[in-house]
Amino acid sequence: MSFHEDVARILAMHCNSCHGDAGGLNTRSYAGLMKGGNKGKLIEPGKAETSLLVHYIDGRRGRSQTMPLGDDKLSPEQIATIRRWIDEGARADKPLPPATAESKTLRGQKRFEIACRAEPGAYLLLKISSGAAVLFERVAARTTGGEERWTAHTEPRWPEEVTVTIESHYAPSSCKIESQ
Ligand code: HEC
Repeated sequence: MSFHEDVARILAMHCNSCHGDAGGLNTRSYAGLMKGGNKGKLIEPGKAETSLLVHYIDGRRGRSQTMPLGDDKLSPEQIATIRRWIDEGARADKPLPPATAESKTLRGQKRFEIACRAEPGAYLLLKISSGAAVLFERVAARTTGGEERWTAHTEPRWPEEVTVTIESHYAPSSCKIESQ
């Protein structure tokens, strides 16, 4: 099993919208997942059965603590994939390059409208940044494909010049970045 090809894809489509960089568990990176969340470490390499992450997805903690919260349970195949990756040592591997990426540097804008047309299975990552500092970030998973739209308003703390980047992982998307 590969972390980036098999496991990260499941996390992207079902976990990353809630568990990001805002604090607590971050399922968006290998390092974040291995670090764990409010309950401490979630993965014991080599031991899926005693790994808390598995307890949170297989239903044994009851409905209110089964992830993804408020959504359908992961499929038996998805749970088996995550279990097998942990049993095989929960190792990292090389990230896949995005299927498509677009980037635009803009100056003095008030508002950004971003619209993407995504293929089924696309995981979209939108970032508005200035150098290494991320000012605005959204993720969206399109299991069936379709249109995704975001609007961002410039905040007073933002610098004049910002870079808008959209990455589409696992399946391509075509995006339009418009600003005013
Ligand atoms: C709709 C939002 C949402 C989604 C989607 C979601 N979670 Fe959660 N998750 C939560 C909330 C809310 C909590 C409770 C926070 C707490 O009490 O610590 C939580 C708690 C957890 C915890 C235990 C607390 C911790 O920080 O260690 C784990 C583990 C977890 N989620 C894993 C996952 C995994 C894996 C997925 C995807 C299969 C997922 N979550 C999808 C909202 C979500």
